[in-house]
Amino acid sequence: MQPSDANTIIALRGWHPAISRAEAVSMFSEANIHRTDARRLLIAEGESRWERASIMSGCECVLTEGGIAKWESITALLELIDAKKMDDMAVNCWRHEGKIPVATKDIERQIGGAFHDAGSTFNLENPKHRFGVVLDASAGYVAWGWMVGQGPGKHGWSAMRANKRPFFRPVSLEPRLARSAVNIAAGTDDGYVIDPMCGTGGILIEAALTNRPTLGIDFDPVMVDGSKQNIEWAGVDAEVKRGDATRFDLPDNVAAVVVDPPYGRNSRGDEKLLEDTISNIVRQKIACKFVIILPTEAGTDNLDEAIDCDIAIPGLVIEEAYGIPVHKSLGRVMIIASISPRD
Ligand SMILES: C[S@@+](CC[C@H](N)C(=O)[O-])C[C@H]1O[C@@H](n2cnc3c(N)ncnc32)[C@H](O)[C@@H]1O
Repeated sequence: MQPSDANTIIALRGWHPAISRAEAVSMFSEANIHRTDARRLLIAEGESRWERASIMSGCECVLTEGGIAKWESITALLELIDAKKMDDMAVNCWRHEGKIPVATKDIERQIGGAFHDAGSTFNLENPKHRFGVVLDASAGYVAWGWMVGQGPGKHGWSAMRANKRPFFRPVSLEPRLARSAVNIAAGTDDGYVIDPMCGTGGILIEAALTNRPTLGIDFDPVMVDGSKQNIEWAGVDAEVKRGDATRFDLPDNVAAVVVDPPYGRNSRGDEKLLEDTISNIVRQKIACKFVIILPTEAGTDNLDEAIDCDIAIPGLVIEEAYGIPVHKSLGRVMIIASISPRD
């Protein structure tokens, strides 16, 4: 087994590795994050506030004081793990991307044995410390370390599906997509998250659930009322006002604008609405991130890399774009950009 020097590993969820990677880069901005050959394992150099993992859409957990290596055998893995005495712990092993031929239960038992021999005590129900082992079949890797964040499985908050809210419309964004857009956009900046065309409030709810000051605007009074109902139902705090995305006054401390506007590729009106929304921000000399989610005719299957984006909008510096498949004839594109004030 080839040990690597890395001792902090970020384990991503599987729904969109490229978007999850972008989210990790934004949310752990203090660290240097590198890709590995495994599609859902990243290496982090330096320190960051790893507990942010628990509010991220695409991060299972961060594995600290751990490592990553090519999978060989349980015996080889045991040689690499520093099994020290730890009170109130459990070992949790799970898979990414298919099957490395070993039973996760055997790994849990043998690594648990090594910690036991070092004097550790165990609590399988509700442990204070969880030692995680991830088997990633995409590159035949194993990663391990002390888990920060929830780990694999469904988010607690993904139970809050958009169609469970009191006010639902087919335009409502999926919470995990809205959450990743907000986290990519605002990262560690504690300024406002603004959605100037907030619809049913999907983006606002995720921004507020992550404790960011949040403001939504929509010109349709039915949407304004509906998003207020949804925000109250979610038990969070966000301001929603009736207004025009192309004219409203922004607060001074804006971290990011995140928007999912009405948009048809051949509709000049929709393009103009987006341009005028951006001009309104530029005119107020506000520097911020700007993340746009647009519908496209066909989804992309490439969930591992950024895609090319041929949209040019005055005032907007496009950094990256990601394709999101929805179904055969519909996709979305998430465009990550920034706005800098004009001199
Ligand atoms: C695609 S929907 C947004 C959906 C939203 N992300 C959600 O999760 O429900 C677009 C919204 O833009 C609003 N809108 C269109 N033009 C606007 C304008 N000039 N100013 C403010 N809102 C506008 C529409 O009323 C609609 O609610």
